[in-house]
Amino acid sequence: MLSSTCTAAVRGLSTTAQLSKINNVTVIGAGLMGSGIAQVSANAKLNVVVVDSNQSALDKAQKGIESSLQRVAKKKHADDAKAQTALVSSVLDRIKMSTNVSDSVKDADLVIEAIVENIDIKRKLFAEVEAAAKPTTLITTNTSSLRLADIGLNLKDKTRFGGLHFFNPVPMMKLLEVVRHNDTSDDTFQKLMEYGKAVGKTTVACKDTPGFIVNRLLVPYMFEALRLYERGDASMPDIDVAMKLGAGYPMGPFELSDYVGLDTCKFIMDGWHKQYPDEVAFKPSPLLDSLVDAGKTGRKSGEGFYKYK
Ligand code: 3HC
Repeated sequence: MLSSTCTAAVRGLSTTAQLSKINNVTVIGAGLMGSGIAQVSANAKLNVVVVDSNQSALDKAQKGIESSLQRVAKKKHADDAKAQTALVSSVLDRIKMSTNVSDSVKDADLVIEAIVENIDIKRKLFAEVEAAAKPTTLITTNTSSLRLADIGLNLKDKTRFGGLHFFNPVPMMKLLEVVRHNDTSDDTFQKLMEYGKAVGKTTVACKDTPGFIVNRLLVPYMFEALRLYERGDASMPDIDVAMKLGAGYPMGPFELSDYVGLDTCKFIMDGWHKQYPDEVAFKPSPLLDSLVDAGKTGRKSGEGFYKYK
């Protein structure tokens, strides 16, 4: 059941006037998350620009979006090849790629940052975004573990700043966490909730707390599974099977860690451990550290806890 605050927030959102204000979305960062966010935004008939300093990342994103759209189109129009092609090209037509941040945010109504989890790089980027964007542009981060108050520290207008936390794979995962920090205005928050609905997500509201809702529960659970394995209590495949069949999770903790990326898991936990050294739930894992050191970061590298073809 929704909490009363959340229900009230969701109820207060349904004016179309607010929705119509977000037409142009700029997604900064062409990785898996940025690509997925661009795809669902364009699929909702919004004009999207994806920005990345690296042209090859943009090329990879373009291919990734196209193949994900083909999967979606196949499911939606199973026996209609023409309709499949039309869906794919209509969404792709609404996505532009760019390597220039300032140019790309000039017309944006909403900017969503999905770059590397590095506070200094994010702060520098947000300064550039704020300087080039309109004074009404909503500026958001898809951070998975950092505090908004820290990321947005140097923004001149913090009222237009909030968090939009998506889940991987973005086209499939139905949730969007909408995060507000102390200075996020009610208007900004409501527009972000409305954007979430427009892109087909179920929104939940959360304050600016480490990991928000999902990662605060999910990441310590993944590390607890590692500790179970490191103690020799059960094998990795058995822990995965147990959580799928015993708890109804679509993936076991090791499969999911490989899917999310072991480097991402490590980054999140290291940051929290540094901030809260006495919190046992945030204790790093020697096994995870050694895999990441060896470049075994999960599915994307071909090997993590498991090997992939
Ligand atoms: N794009 C489009 N469609 C996709 C897709 C993608 N990227 N990935 C999967 N699909 C579709 C497939 O086409 C398939 O459709 P079909 O059943 O009609 O053929 C359907 O999803 C199922 O896919 P698969 O058969 O390949 O595999 P699964 O049944 O195992 O589903 C999954 C894949 C949706 C990823 C499912 O395993 C799952 O939900 N896993 C858990 C994912 C999760 O927990 N994500 C959150 C991670 S935490 C996070 O992201 C936060 C960050 O801050 C760290």
